[in-house]
Amino acid sequence: MKLRKTLLLIAAIAIVIGFGAMTLPESKENISDFGDDTPVWELLEKLGMNGAPRAKSSAEASADKGSEFVHKGYSKKNGKKTAKLSKFYVCTTCHNVVKEFEDPSKISAADRLDYAMKTGIPYLQASSFYGIVNRNSFFNGDYRKQFEKNPKIGKASGDLREAIKFCNKNFAQSRDLEAWELESILAYFWTLQFKVSDLKLSNIDKEQIKKALQSENAKASAISFIQSKYAQAMPATFLKIPRFSALKDDLYKDSRRLKEGKTIFEQSCLHCHLNKKYSFFSLENELLTFKAMEKATRSENYIFSMYYLTREGLPPRMGHKSAMPLFTAEKLSPEQLESLYLYVSARASKKIKD
Ligand code: HEC
Ligand code: HEC
Repeated sequence: MKLRKTLLLIAAIAIVIGFGAMTLPESKENISDFGDDTPVWELLEKLGMNGAPRAKSSAEASADKGSEFVHKGYSKKNGKKTAKLSKFYVCTTCHNVVKEFEDPSKISAADRLDYAMKTGIPYLQASSFYGIVNRNSFFNGDYRKQFEKNPKIGKASGDLREAIKFCNKNFAQSRDLEAWELESILAYFWTLQFKVSDLKLSNIDKEQIKKALQSENAKASAISFIQSKYAQAMPATFLKIPRFSALKDDLYKDSRRLKEGKTIFEQSCLHCHLNKKYSFFSLENELLTFKAMEKATRSENYIFSMYYLTREGLPPRMGHKSAMPLFTAEKLSPEQLESLYLYVSARASKKIKD
């Protein structure tokens, strides 16, 4: 009896305090206050922007389950394991979930490789999920053209939910997502949104944004200003298969280019091929592999040629439905592809040891 009374009292106090907090007028101080950890969407919404693709909450869906789908390919419902999404892959076969650029407004292939070299993260065909809820256009550039005839591409290009479904079908070769599974993945993506500290904002920039938050007419320009600090969409340019020509001897002394090639081989090719991790074809960090890859690349338009494969990709074939996505110019520049061949041929001819 006594316990019940105490609980009731606590509840009553909580309601009064909670209510009080709710009716308290927000001070100007509060409105304009933000810090390094403030999510960028929160800031944009304070400035009056809307349209955030938030996940719908439900009893089944959660960001934790979304994380399991993305990293493991399955999760649980009512304590029971769900069916796997894909027989071959998980989302992280092709997508990172971490930052891929030092400065999210500078997104060239060179910037991306520099950052991968510094951090050791995989260097993959698809864009990272980090900051994806902050983007507003998907499957851009030549992807849009490639899927022109697919009636779903229109929706997928402007709607993150549709983009997830589209990739799940067309790249991940997965089963259909149930509604709660899709919302879980989206909820997980929201844990990966940009924070103020991810954007390269100077102290003066931050002061300007604080002023805009308090003013009535500077809000729209503050929104555009913040959006100029990160890429709104990932561009995609398909390239032709380059003609093979032997590289100049001098290049084999260029340690920067060799290191670039090594990084691409180890953080990209081996990410999927080492011990046949995500493919039926094995590449190892050893002489036989380097010799085979070097020889294949000298023969033009040969299916094992690195020049051919990176630019054309490999569609799903009979027997197994796994496929290798191509690398766009933004994910592997012509110079980077040349560095890859440089490294592989240097290893094949034993010009370098590792
Ligand atoms: C076999 C490789 C592969 C797998 C596996 C894969 N994707 Fe993708 N995905 C791609 C490629 C390639 C693109 C093309 C555009 C890009 O990412 O820049 C893409 C694009 C996307 C996009 C749009 C990104 C943008 O900014 O344009 C979303 C969203 C997406 N994938 C979600 C997923 C989810 C969720 C999974 C797991 C269920 C998944 N993908 C698994 C290769 C893959
Ligand atoms: C995202 C995963 C992924 C990455 C990264 C990747 N591959 Fe692949 N690759 C595949 C898949 C899947 C196949 C399809 C064939 C299979 O599963 O056996 C394939 C096929 C191949 C084949 C042809 C095998 C055949 O059966 O015809 C070669 C050679 C190859 N890749 C080399 C490379 C090289 C070189 C790189 C680095 C530039 C690379 N791959 C990067 C997933 C990947």
